[in-house]
Amino acid sequence: MAMFPPSLPHYFIEKYTKEGDVVFDPFSGRGTTVLEACLMNRKAVGNDKNILAYILTKTKCDVPSKGRIFSRIAQLEKKFKSTSINLNNENENIRMIFSDYTLKQLIYLKNNLKWRINTIDTFITAMVLGILHGNSMGYLSLSMPNTFSMSPNYIRNFIKKHELHRPNRDVFELLRRKLNRCYQQPEIKGKVYNQNATNMSYIKNESVHLVLTSPPYTRVIRYGQFNWIRLWFLGKTGKEIDEDLFFSQSLPKYCDFMSKVLNEIKRVLKLNGKAVLIIGDVKDRTSENIVNLADIVWKKCAEPLGFKLVEPIIEDIISDDSKVSRIWGDKKGRATQVERVLVLKKG
Ligand SMILES: C[S@@+](CC[C@H](N)C(=O)[O-])C[C@H]1O[C@@H](n2cnc3c(N)ncnc32)[C@H](O)[C@@H]1O
Repeated sequence: MAMFPPSLPHYFIEKYTKEGDVVFDPFSGRGTTVLEACLMNRKAVGNDKNILAYILTKTKCDVPSKGRIFSRIAQLEKKFKSTSINLNNENENIRMIFSDYTLKQLIYLKNNLKWRINTIDTFITAMVLGILHGNSMGYLSLSMPNTFSMSPNYIRNFIKKHELHRPNRDVFELLRRKLNRCYQQPEIKGKVYNQNATNMSYIKNESVHLVLTSPPYTRVIRYGQFNWIRLWFLGKTGKEIDEDLFFSQSLPKYCDFMSKVLNEIKRVLKLNGKAVLIIGDVKDRTSENIVNLADIVWKKCAEPLGFKLVEPIIEDIISDDSKVSRIWGDKKGRATQVERVLVLKKG
């Protein structure tokens, strides 16, 4: 959600860094900047407070060998076969999505994958999250969208209306197929953290060549709630995750948050480093007016901290290809919205 195409980080990484330089994304989401930086032989650092985003980012830049992943899947499968799993206490909202056969395997994996401490397990966890729900034979759930989780009530009604049945899918088998289909290993490894972006103490002063990120907006995106099924697998509720992330429609609160983030960005940037922030326009909830959030971040947060604009704020109108000056060459249209790019340097 709220993600940018790989061509965007590619453009700015090429423009502002060289091989071996450090590229940092403090709101890394699904890990687009970090993966692109690794592929371009830069030292990539990512961070996201949402554990789901953390796992997706880590998996893209810390890829174990294929053989070790296959071995671990085989080991887990063997142990699963000698374990009995009781589904009686399992949440009804989850039980309506997966067959008992599939759910037993999922619960075993949920309880035994050590994604916090073991890179192979993090990778397998990300693969499970990728195939957890969707609408083809490669997914574990009954037919539903892959990109986000519909609400439990919506799913319940949808099942009734379309008389859907939960398919018996073998998690271990689908994991092996996914691995054979998708496995790639970037040569350079990145580092990823799971911290609030207002505190970047894990990064040394003046060590980053380029910060490239799209921070959360005041626009309402409940990253946790929209991913409640994947978060169930990680042992969290959508609500718990949303409480940890920045979420407010108040401009003063947003400015306060972004000032703290920019203060940290200023500290970690090298003297001639750049910070590229992609910030979309938002609609004011009461007046319905469009708010140019990028301009507000520039005037109320970045400029007072002594940042300078490297170039005038870049505007990218996303929906209508004929109007678009898409400097990074991605032509796909989406809902009408304006994204703006702030390119900052220290004073
Ligand atoms: C606009 S999205 C980034 C999307 C990313 N550019 C991509 O292409 O996938 C913003 C991200 O900020 C994260 N986030 C929100 N509040 C945060 C906070 N206080 N600290 C760190 N990350 C946060 C969200 O989890 C979300 O992944």
